[in-house]
Amino acid sequence: MELTIESQPFTKISTDALVTYVYEKDDKIEGVLAEMDAATGGRLRELDASGELTGKLLEFTLVHNPPGLAAKRLLLVGLGKPEKCTGRELLRASGAALRFLKARAVRRMAVLAREQARDAASAQTVVEGLLLGDMESDIYKTEKKNEKHFDGAALAGWPNEAAEKGRAAGQVTAGAQNFTRSLVNEPSNKLTPRMLAERAEAMAKAAGLSIEVFDENKIRELAMGALLSVAQGSVEPPRFIVVTYTPPNHKDGAPVLGLVGKAVTFDTGGISLKPADGMEKMKYDMAGGATMLGVMKALAQLKPAVKVIACVPATENMPGGRAQKPGDVQFAMSGKSIEVINTDAEGRLILADGLAYARKLGCTHLIDAATLTGAIVVALSNINVGVFGSEQGFTERLLASARACGEKMWPMPVDEEYREMIKSGIADIQNVGSGKGGGAITAAMFLKEFSEETPWIHLDIAGTAWLDEAKPWSAKGASGVAVRTLIDLAMKF
Ligand code: BES
Ligand code: MN
Ligand code: ZN
Repeated sequence: MELTIESQPFTKISTDALVTYVYEKDDKIEGVLAEMDAATGGRLRELDASGELTGKLLEFTLVHNPPGLAAKRLLLVGLGKPEKCTGRELLRASGAALRFLKARAVRRMAVLAREQARDAASAQTVVEGLLLGDMESDIYKTEKKNEKHFDGAALAGWPNEAAEKGRAAGQVTAGAQNFTRSLVNEPSNKLTPRMLAERAEAMAKAAGLSIEVFDENKIRELAMGALLSVAQGSVEPPRFIVVTYTPPNHKDGAPVLGLVGKAVTFDTGGISLKPADGMEKMKYDMAGGATMLGVMKALAQLKPAVKVIACVPATENMPGGRAQKPGDVQFAMSGKSIEVINTDAEGRLILADGLAYARKLGCTHLIDAATLTGAIVVALSNINVGVFGSEQGFTERLLASARACGEKMWPMPVDEEYREMIKSGIADIQNVGSGKGGGAITAAMFLKEFSEETPWIHLDIAGTAWLDEAKPWSAKGASGVAVRTLIDLAMKF
C-alpha cells in the first residue's frame, strides 16, 4: 500500500473515499466537520439531526457522491466519547475504516485529520492502524486475491512535517509488527527452528543488524541443557538466535537491554501430550521470539541510544522416542538443576537458558516475551498481557510504554511465597507449581530464578498473541502484541 501526503483542501481531494472521524458528543459538527457540512450543503447536520450520526466508536456512515467534494465517497468513522478516545481508539478506527472500505471493493482512501489530533503522533497512529488493518493471512490461498490489498492511502489535514514524521515512524513500527505477525501465522511445517533462523538472518542482513545462529552442536557446547531437553524429542534440531543492535557511540558500562523470546515452533506438549482439540493453534507458540525479532527490525531503523540484544531459543516440543520424560532432571546453562514434572511446561525451560545467555552477554536489563501459560488466559482472558517484574521502576516504564502505544498490559505479582510452590524434592527447582493455582505466576517465578539479580520483566502473551476471530480493525490470527510497546520502551531507554 502506497502512503502519500495530501496537501490539497479536502474538498478538492479526488479519491475513492475521503475518511474522517466523528466524536460522540452533542455539538459534534464542529471544526473540520463544520467546514465539511458547509461544503456539502448541510449533509452532516442533516445526518446528525436524523440520529444516524452518533459518533459511537466504530460506527460507520458512508455517503456516496457527497455534494461539494471531489471524493467519490465520504466515510465518517465514530471515535466515541472524546474523553475516552486515546491512540488505541484512533488506531482501531483507522484500521477498521480501511477494512470497511476494502470489503466494499474500495482501494484508495484519504484520511482527513480532525483538529483534535493533528500532531505527528496521531499521524503515526493512523498509519499504524492502516498498515495493520491491511494485512491478511492469505499467503497459502491458491486463489490469489491480490485485489484484497489496498492500493493507497493519503494523509490529509496534518501539517506537512507532522504527516512526514508520523508516516515514517508508523511505517517502521507497523512494518515490524506485521513482520512479527507474518512469522507467527506460519504453520510449523513452513517455519521450523531452522527456517525461523533463516528468516531472522534475512531480516538482520537487510536491516544491517549483526546476527549469530547457534546450531545444536554449539548449543550443546554452551551447555544449554534446558533448551536441549525440550529439543531432544524432535528430529528437527534447535537453533539459538542472537541479534544485536549497537548504537553508534555505545560505551562499555552503559546499559544493555536483553530481549528474550520463546520460540517453540510447535508445542505438542511432548510426552505430557496436549489434547488434539485446538492443538493446531500451538504453531503460535513462537510468538515471543517473533516479537523480539520484529522489535529488532524496527530498532535497526529507529536507532535508539541503548544497545539491545535479542536472544531467541527456537525448538519444537515433540513426543519422539528420545523425548524427555516427566520426572527427568536437567541441568540448565546456569548450572541449576531442574526436575521436569510436566514436559508441556517447556517454554520456561528454553527461556531459562535464553535468560542466562542474555546475562552472560552482559545484558543489564532483561525482558522476556512468551506464550507461556494457559493460566494467564484464565486470569486476564485475551484482553491484557500479563506483566511480571522484579523491579518496580523498570516495570512501571514498560507499563507506561504500553499505555502510550494503546496496548493493554496488567501487572501481576511475584511474591516470594510463590517460589515455595516450585520447590523440587530432588533438584533445585521443578518446572510446574505444586497444584495450588497461580499457574501464570509460578511460571514467572521459575523465569525469575534464571534472571537472578538482573532487573527483569516477563510478558505472558499466551492470551493476546492470537486472535481467534477477525476484528473490525484486524484479520484473524497473529496480533503482533507487544512489538510497539517494546520499541517505545527501547527508544525511551
Ligand atoms: N504454550 C503453552 C501455553 C499456551 C496455552 C499458549 C494456551 C497459548 C495458549 C505452554 O507451553 C504450556 O503448555 N503451558 C502449560 C503449563 C502447564 C503444563 C503447567 C499450560 O499452560 O497448560
Ligand atoms: Mn507447552
Ligand atoms: Zn508452549
